[in-house]
Amino acid sequence: MFEENGFSSLIILACALLALVGGPKLWQRLQLSLAKHPSMAGHLRWAKRLANWAPAYDYPGEQWFRVDHAPEAVGTQRRHALQRLGSTLAQRSPQTLALTQATKPMVSDMQLISRYRVPFQFQKFLSDNLQIGSYWAHSKGVWVADADEQRHLDVTGSYGVNLFGADFYKSCMQEGMDLVRDLGPVLGAYHPCVQENVTMLCQIARKDEVSFHMSGTEAVMQAVRLARYHTGKRKVVRFTGAYHGWWDDVQPGPGNPMPPSNDTLTLNEMHPQTLKVLRQRKDIACVLVNPLQAMHPNKAAPSDSTLIDGSRQLSYDKAAYAQWLKELRQVCDEKGIAFIMDEVFMGFRLGLGGAQAFFGVDADMVTYGKTLGGGFPVGVVCGKAAWMRRFHEEKPGNICFARGTFNAHPSVMGAMNVFLKRVQGPAIQAAYQKMEGLWIDRMRQLNDQLLGQDLPVRVVGMATVWSVVYEVPSRYNWMLQFYMREQGIALSWVGTGRIIFNFAFEDEHFAEFCQRFIRAAQAMQNDGWWWTGQGQSNRTIRREVMREMVRIKWAL
Ligand SMILES: Cc1ncc(COP(=O)(O)O)c(C=O)c1O
Repeated sequence: MFEENGFSSLIILACALLALVGGPKLWQRLQLSLAKHPSMAGHLRWAKRLANWAPAYDYPGEQWFRVDHAPEAVGTQRRHALQRLGSTLAQRSPQTLALTQATKPMVSDMQLISRYRVPFQFQKFLSDNLQIGSYWAHSKGVWVADADEQRHLDVTGSYGVNLFGADFYKSCMQEGMDLVRDLGPVLGAYHPCVQENVTMLCQIARKDEVSFHMSGTEAVMQAVRLARYHTGKRKVVRFTGAYHGWWDDVQPGPGNPMPPSNDTLTLNEMHPQTLKVLRQRKDIACVLVNPLQAMHPNKAAPSDSTLIDGSRQLSYDKAAYAQWLKELRQVCDEKGIAFIMDEVFMGFRLGLGGAQAFFGVDADMVTYGKTLGGGFPVGVVCGKAAWMRRFHEEKPGNICFARGTFNAHPSVMGAMNVFLKRVQGPAIQAAYQKMEGLWIDRMRQLNDQLLGQDLPVRVVGMATVWSVVYEVPSRYNWMLQFYMREQGIALSWVGTGRIIFNFAFEDEHFAEFCQRFIRAAQAMQNDGWWWTGQGQSNRTIRREVMREMVRIKWAL
């Protein structure tokens, strides 16, 4: 399935020569370099340097509207459009915006996400002219309403938690609380429902043991710690662009003030050189796989903050990804490396058996979180007994410590109990049966409509997780998120890079979504944001942005 081109053969030859001169250490180093993805995301030290180097600047007034050298008339049209959009959103949701403005100076997370919704050069002028609220007051079915009762179709996905619709989780939370009411806040020993939870989890994940945590990040930390404990090795392999929570060892590079740890290797996913490195090295404890990456191997989550042109591309190939996981599994077996499937995001979304069943691979440990808490915060590791054991029979002092005050909190366990029983019930089992075909068909329906309307956007995705891709090399593609908001579609702060549907979307809701999405794209087109000058391409845009940065940095 993999092809090596002539160029990489040349590099290998050069490496072999160097290794003869430099010895096995250098040879190993060079092999590792060849297993890195060629993009910046594969070279984290460079990515950090570039991120630190990039100068701050913004497009003021007139330039903001015509940074693509559009004619004055188009600039004016865009200016009017922004004014209209800003005042429509402000008039509709005054209380929501007031709450947002009052809270923002005191909540660093709100400041971060409102700053990184769009490419940074556009941010300041945009926030002076258009605001969106950060508060929701109600949810019902596929809808969320803000503090001004403005209803939006909810495709934020609540970071991936919302898989079955808001009402499903409300009742899991309520019934779960009822179930554990008599025990209340008691921690340490478990509520009796935990026995059922553990049995169901072991069956679903096809594993022997379970450990409970408070978040997906903690579940990943624990799985990695266990892998290190049992192998006696330090190195963790993650793949380029894959998110596994915000713990230092799995989130190296920009966003983390520490330099990338030498114990984390970020390798090229779906590449034979990666398998070679795994086979050759003796210091690897585990490989972490985030199955969401099947949508865009070796790329980070497609966020509108980096949408400076129209080059966003996704390449989901189920069969190729399944084949990759099979080969990865084989190397892990040969080398005694722990294969950790991180299903914190995708768990239960692709079916009851999750990504393991969907792609046909049996992991050593699986991490879950998000939706499994039935609406409450959770992290879970399910694993084979040999990997989950936290002590050695022969060495009483050699334990693998992991505790957490709120692990297995009664409310979480109660809601999880309701969740696990419901997902195995006939209604959700029937929904799983038709899930894949249904969402492929819906994607086709929307793309046909977009094509029919001559709109330069398409949707791509895996099951219920979609992204918008753009056919126009425009500097303003990120504006679509605000037109969608105007049409009453709620996106997460990542914008049009992640549209996360849930199973409560019936055909009529989906039809409503399509109508609103198309209206948003039409308005965006009519307002001139997709005007493109002759010769403008994604490449010319990127060059221009780079030139701007160099000019500003060195005051040229
Ligand atoms: C695949 C994956 N792993 C781990 C995490 C971290 O989970 P949490 O945010 O609950 O710590 C996430 C969160 O998005 C995730 O998507």
